[in-house]
Amino acid sequence: MVDVQIRRLRVVDVEDFREIRLTALKKAPEMFGSTYEVEARRPLEAFADRVSNVVAFGAYVDGKIVGLSVFKQEDGPKDTHKAQITGVFVEPELRAQGVASGLLQAAIDYGRDHVEQIMLTVVEGNEAAIALYKKHGFKPYGVEPRATKIGSEYHNEVLMVLFLR
Ligand SMILES: CC(C)(COP(=O)(O)OP(=O)(O)OC[C@H]1O[C@@H](n2cnc3c(N)ncnc32)[C@H](O)[C@@H]1OP(=O)(O)O)[C@@H](O)C(=O)NCCC(=O)NCCS
Repeated sequence: MVDVQIRRLRVVDVEDFREIRLTALKKAPEMFGSTYEVEARRPLEAFADRVSNVVAFGAYVDGKIVGLSVFKQEDGPKDTHKAQITGVFVEPELRAQGVASGLLQAAIDYGRDHVEQIMLTVVEGNEAAIALYKKHGFKPYGVEPRATKIGSEYHNEVLMVLFLR
């Protein structure tokens, strides 16, 4: 088993955050709502803003960032009991070794002290991610039809929730 460290990313880690986010968009383009082309144009300050406005966790192997999960509590006046997890990604050569599980667990553990439920969406057919989320207790509660459109192709998204209390 590979030696992986999972830790919270802060503003000083912005270059790692940018690197893993752009890698995710490049290597798994159909799994995320955004695109490499859009985010690669953003200045580093935009990533610094983002990393300071969310709770991001990075997975490191030998000092190199290889995975990401992002937890964001909702801030609307009637929504603060909820959070979203987004951006979950692990470098292909390090998959199937529990890295995503560690990243997700870090986000869920953080969530236990801050929110009552965690929501996420996953592209229908992304069986690896759906199995990952189910393993951690998330339950599907619906499907958004035609949630995204890539070229002329629509993709549905499965909506999942984990109730913490
Ligand atoms: C989904 C993803 C994050 C999983 O990362 P990973 O580090 O390989 O996952 P783990 O090794 O921690 O696996 C944890 C659990 O996830 C599920 N899982 C992971 N890969 C799977 C696969 N290829 N097929 C089926 N289930 C899988 C299993 O339940 C596994 O538990 P198990 O090992 O006890 O069977 C990774 O495949 C990835 O980065 N995919 C591209 C980006 C993406 O789809 N992100 C999700 C966006 S919603």
